[in-house]
Amino acid sequence: MGNVHILCSDITTLHCDAIVNAANRSLLGGGGVDGAIHRAAGPKLLEECRTLGGCRTGEAKITKGYRLPAKFVIHTVGPIYSGASEDAVLLADCYRNSLDLARENGVRTIAFPAISTGVYGYPVREATQIAVDTVKKWLADNPDYPMDVTFCCFDERTRGVYDECLS
Ligand code: AR6
Repeated sequence: MGNVHILCSDITTLHCDAIVNAANRSLLGGGGVDGAIHRAAGPKLLEECRTLGGCRTGEAKITKGYRLPAKFVIHTVGPIYSGASEDAVLLADCYRNSLDLARENGVRTIAFPAISTGVYGYPVREATQIAVDTVKKWLADNPDYPMDVTFCCFDERTRGVYDECLS
């Protein structure tokens, strides 16, 4: 079975097969981790994103990583937190669809940011539980495909929550 790690780092510096971007439905860039990924990857990333026709909430699309150390970027769109039960379903979809797309592309090492917990306002604890449960379930459902998953936190407080949810 695959492995899960927690790291406190800037996701754009990670040498994984794929890093996941917490994008918006346009896939044309933004602030937060999305802005950081586009800055680090360079303008060719935006050029490729323009050909993708956007992305629905909960779904995922893949591009090359360009100047990033990562070979691929998997762009997924988290829900804007509303408090409705649909939020959790859509956030879980982001993790599952990103992992399915990673597998289809031969990715063996992947790093996720804390999707939806910045500008999109998802409470960190709830979002982290969904992230951890969904990734663990995917790994259990894909025992023939060992995937190395890193949760890349941007601050120590978030890291602490991941530590608690994983233990
Ligand atoms: N590396 C790792 N994590 C980061 C980095 C980084 N370089 N920068 C920020 N984070 P957010 P969202 C963390 O707001 O809530 C964009 O404008 C951040 O601390 O980036 O899904 C998009 O275009 C937080 O824990 O994404 C969308 O419009 C987490 O990444 C919208 O924001 C997610 O915060 C998406 O909002």
